[in-house]
Amino acid sequence: MSGKLEGKVAAITGGASGMGRATVLRYLQEGASVVVNDMNQANGEATIKAAEEAGAGDRVAFVRGDVSKEADIEKLVGTAVDRFGRLDIMFNNAGVGGAFGPITETTVDEWDYTFHVLVRGVFLGIKHGVRQMKQQGQGGAVINTASIAGLSGGAGSSAYSAAKAAVTNLTRALTTELAQDRIRINSIAPGIIRTPLFHANRAEQMEEMAREITPWPDLGEGSDIAGAAVFLASDDAGFVTGHTLVVDGGALASSPGFWRKVDNTVLKQRSGINRGSTGDKSEAR
Ligand SMILES: NC(=O)c1ccc[n+]([C@@H]2O[C@H](COP(=O)([O-])OP(=O)(O)OC[C@H]3O[C@@H](n4cnc5c(N)ncnc54)[C@H](O)[C@@H]3O)[C@@H](O)[C@H]2O)c1
Repeated sequence: MSGKLEGKVAAITGGASGMGRATVLRYLQEGASVVVNDMNQANGEATIKAAEEAGAGDRVAFVRGDVSKEADIEKLVGTAVDRFGRLDIMFNNAGVGGAFGPITETTVDEWDYTFHVLVRGVFLGIKHGVRQMKQQGQGGAVINTASIAGLSGGAGSSAYSAAKAAVTNLTRALTTELAQDRIRINSIAPGIIRTPLFHANRAEQMEEMAREITPWPDLGEGSDIAGAAVFLASDDAGFVTGHTLVVDGGALASSPGFWRKVDNTVLKQRSGINRGSTGDKSEAR
């Protein structure tokens, strides 16, 4: 039986951990070739190893890079073309928690870092991914990872929430421009998903909170996002563009209030920057 993405070539940013890694493995299973981007070299290599063990053969490659740097994104797209001949799917997924703490204590650097990774990174992925797709002239699919935090004011820190809202509306805003080239662009808005980013060294406490705000009996996993990313990349979604697909076990529909519930955690009492799984140090003061 052939996979849903047979013969397609995908680039996935932040593909070395969490939902990115789950999507890398699922895309390979569905027959695609995949170039994985991430800042974290060790996790990137571990992802390639996991892919090879799952039988991906030479259909997978890792390129270390920072999504907020244009040259790194150009290299990512260039690698897809050099190694696999083309690019059909661009999944802009890399992310960090970014700035947290009271707005009055947020530094300009923390704010900028958040927007560099979450918004500039998505812009650059779209810009260079779409350039390649247009050159090929055979359409394509762009997927961006947004968040339920960008669809409400109660599911993340203010900087993160604002950045994810930008991702959702950048997706909508590009629908018309890209349609003429048969390039579909959609976002996935995950709810609480069990990944290293969400756990952030407080697994038990975070999971308890996740259960409280997620109506579905199971917690979200990277594989749940991978499933949505397969759909949006596949021909099954041939008439779906400009959409933000919420994958959250009903959290948003039932009004998360997530941020209200984190009152007693370090995320509200102190200020700082969460650099996620990048390997770079997070700081709180
Ligand atoms: N986990 C959740 O509950 C949740 C909810 C909503 C949205 N999201 C979003 O989902 C996406 C994936 O997050 P995850 O939960 O799988 O986290 P994760 O930490 O497991 O994976 C994110 C990956 O992105 C990489 N990354 C971060 N900054 C980068 C940069 N500048 N350049 C390249 N790579 C970079 C990290 O190194 C990491 O490997 C992010 O955009 C995140 O904001 C997560």
